[in-house]
Amino acid sequence: MALKITVIGTGYLGATHAAAMAELGFEVLGLDVVPEKVEMLRRGEVPMYEPGLEELLRKHVAGIEGSSGRLRFTTDYAEVAAFGDVHFVCVNTPQKHGEYACDMSYVDSAFASLAPHLTGPALVVGKSTVPVGSADRLAAYLAEHAPAGADAELAWNPEFLREGFAVQDTLRPDRIVVGVRSDRAEKLLREVYTTPVAEGSPFVVTDFPTAELVKTSANSFLATKISFINAMAEVCEAAGGDVVKLAEAIGYDDRIGKKFLRAGIGFGGGCLPKDIRAFMARAGELGSDQALTFLREIDSINMRRRGQMVEMAREALGSGSFLGKRVAVLGAAFKPDSDDVRDSPALNVAGQIHLQGGQVTVYDPKGMANARRLFPTLGYADSAQAAVRGADVVLHLTEWREFRELDPAALGEVVKSRVILDGRNALEPELWRRAGWTYRAMGRPTA
Ligand code: UDX
Repeated sequence: MALKITVIGTGYLGATHAAAMAELGFEVLGLDVVPEKVEMLRRGEVPMYEPGLEELLRKHVAGIEGSSGRLRFTTDYAEVAAFGDVHFVCVNTPQKHGEYACDMSYVDSAFASLAPHLTGPALVVGKSTVPVGSADRLAAYLAEHAPAGADAELAWNPEFLREGFAVQDTLRPDRIVVGVRSDRAEKLLREVYTTPVAEGSPFVVTDFPTAELVKTSANSFLATKISFINAMAEVCEAAGGDVVKLAEAIGYDDRIGKKFLRAGIGFGGGCLPKDIRAFMARAGELGSDQALTFLREIDSINMRRRGQMVEMAREALGSGSFLGKRVAVLGAAFKPDSDDVRDSPALNVAGQIHLQGGQVTVYDPKGMANARRLFPTLGYADSAQAAVRGADVVLHLTEWREFRELDPAALGEVVKSRVILDGRNALEPELWRRAGWTYRAMGRPTA
């Protein structure tokens, strides 16, 4: 009989995982403790913008016309325990307020709610990003609190999905990593992932700590690559070099690779910044903090970029001050194809300029509602054209395709000064310069 799967936590990761599991042919029950979220998902609506996710959900959510009916949602842990053979825990692990460490309270409460209902054989699979050592602790918790005892087993299976590509990253991941303690757990997870493995996703079997560390070290490496190129951008700025050419040239070396070498205002979002901080905090607890001191530098290079963008804007205005100046900000999401504004470099820059007296108007194709909620005092416009009207300077801070397709000549008609600062090195400098704009980018020569 086919495995039955449950997914606990239907946020970004869980909603995508649940829909993907249904797409792979399994019967799936998703759980969330927020009833409104469950209601939305039952209607086939997704609480965030993610290309392809709503379509995939609607293809499978029971009760939607023409759906496979394989995907249902509940708020009831007893129902989840009775239904599933494999339970994926997908709740989030945000940064603790005012600390580097990650907040494990959602993971802990998911285990506390599930364990007492596990009366028969079950595999609980952690997917959340956690400090190394958590899986050991949670396995002991299950053994103690699940009535099934050793029959309720734990495995760790980190998730590597990127926002904007979540569906494809889940259905056909670069690799599947499973931390297991028994052949039974490995066998069950091989069954879950039969299709992606058949289609070429490598399946890496390891122990708990390695599985947890694969995730945090992968994110640390990515963050390091971005901060490395941003450090080179700083040097290019001082020396008159061009970081875009430099990245292209070093990227031809296969050992370095071209990806994640786009210099600009740096990384943000709900993962990279908090994951490297939580990793440092955990290393400190383990007594290996020296091994990760470089991450502190990675973090500070990254945060410095935002301030440097603000200074670049001040310089471009030529007045030494933002007072009485109109600043148009194109982009609010932390990256394109997402409406996520968590730790968004774009909004951070916009907020700093606003605090220094600038009159800021922000436009983002998908992130407006979230941006308004988080930064209610900024100005907002409904289109790029409306945002730049009367602007003394335009800042391009999230590299949406829509912004690359803007017509510089038409925008030039409505701004006060034709000055654009590209914080993402994603626009075509010549296109803007030909239309009479002063185009400046981070880490590139001025003309
Ligand atoms: C990241 C990891 O890529 C993913 O594997 C993990 O599971 C979760 O964290 P995500 O946060 O969705 O995914 O975004 P990602 O595409 O990694 O971008 C992170 C940030 O880095 C964005 O703000 C992006 O604009 C920035 N970035 C990325 C750069 O500044 N330069 C680059 O070259 C690449």
